Amino acid sequence: MRIVALVSGSGTTLQAVLDAVAEGRIDANVVAVGADKDCHGLERAQGAGADTFLVEPSAYPDRPAWNRALQQAVERHEPDLVLLAGFMRILDEEFVTAFAPALINTHPALLPSFPGAHGVRDALAHGVKITGATVHRVTAAVDSGQILGQVAVPVLADDDEATLHERIKTAERDLFVDVVAELCADADTQ
Ligand code: GAR
Repeated sequence: MRIVALVSGSGTTLQAVLDAVAEGRIDANVVAVGADKDCHGLERAQGAGADTFLVEPSAYPDRPAWNRALQQAVERHEPDLVLLAGFMRILDEEFVTAFAPALINTHPALLPSFPGAHGVRDALAHGVKITGATVHRVTAAVDSGQILGQVAVPVLADDDEATLHERIKTAERDLFVDVVAELCADADTQ
């Protein structure tokens, strides 16, 4: 299995996948990691010996042009599985169609509650006592594809967005690794 991951931030979710691959818990290779901006996730990928690519929206005249450039950069690595591991931009329908159903996202809330870019903030503002993370297949509609796994995380009385997100991310990393491992194991037996 050839995995290509996309990241936008610190890359702790990606690191969990890289560690699980190195330890043989995920039967696959992370062949490349792409980003929409220079971020620590790319350094983690380089540290693990994966190819990296940067496709910044500011370098393209419009969203479709950026989507096609990113799509081509991913396709070049011939992935069996594409992981959105903390990727913070919405991909267009053509991109999604190119890789679905092997396009997987992780979201820091219990979908279908609190979709979008501020899942942690929105859950906190709503006053829920339990939130969590969801790993799902990506469809053209944001955060709404088939749910592959979820984990519940309690909201504590003194939580702010940062403390809650960190607690979610700890559980989310294990969930993401488990789902990716299962997808790779299933593919191995087909
Ligand atoms: C994760 O919580 C992930 O669910 C979220 O970004 C974080 C990545 O952290 N992704 C989204 O919100 C996508 N809409 P990381 O950079 O430390 O892996």
